[in-house]
Amino acid sequence: IGAEDAAYLVSLIRSIPGFPKEGIIFRDFMPVLADAKGLHLMMKALEAALPVPAEDFDAVAGLEARGFLFGPALAAHLGKGFIAVRKAGKLPPQTIRESYDLEYGSESVEIEAEAVKPGERVLIVDDLIATGGTAAAGAELIERAGGTVVGFSFVMGLDGLNGTGKLGGRPTSVLVTMP
Ligand code: PRP
Ligand code: ADE
Repeated sequence: IGAEDAAYLVSLIRSIPGFPKEGIIFRDFMPVLADAKGLHLMMKALEAALPVPAEDFDAVAGLEARGFLFGPALAAHLGKGFIAVRKAGKLPPQTIRESYDLEYGSESVEIEAEAVKPGERVLIVDDLIATGGTAAAGAELIERAGGTVVGFSFVMGLDGLNGTGKLGGRPTSVLVTMP
């Protein structure tokens, strides 16, 4: 996408200082999804910036909840399937679980052991990478379930937290960086 479209996309991201706690600037992507042109441009931008060629993965995985908005949209845009990594406690047994810390709390995520096909190559997508804990936990789950995480796509990265440093050196794309 061109510079004008990129500026338009960034203009749709809403920033809320002091939410959910003091010192955090919350980056809200819902206005991007709500905007027909914004959503289409977002998918084109993620596709153009893929960290590996689309032929090099079989499925897109996303993390509850915001990864469930961008992940299936990108998967459909690319003609791939979607794997859902859920917050803990939502799935029947047998599941595998990982816990991690967030910029503003801690969480656990789960996947059903058979959610990933043996040897399946997976791209993980999320709206935002802050500390990288969420994405790293998602990757750990996919690989414990027998898949290979070939890379990560994020719309936004937060400055100064070195989130991508937690991703094991795998190819990663971040469309825009903000404080
Ligand atoms: C947000 C965001 C990422 C994660 C990034 O989700 O959508 O998944 O934080 O933070 P990290 O890089 O420090 O792990 P959040 O956990 O707030 O949950 P939500 O998707 O349910 O809103
Ligand atoms: N997840 C972690 N940090 C965040 C932030 N500053 N804005 C939106 N989502 C986040």
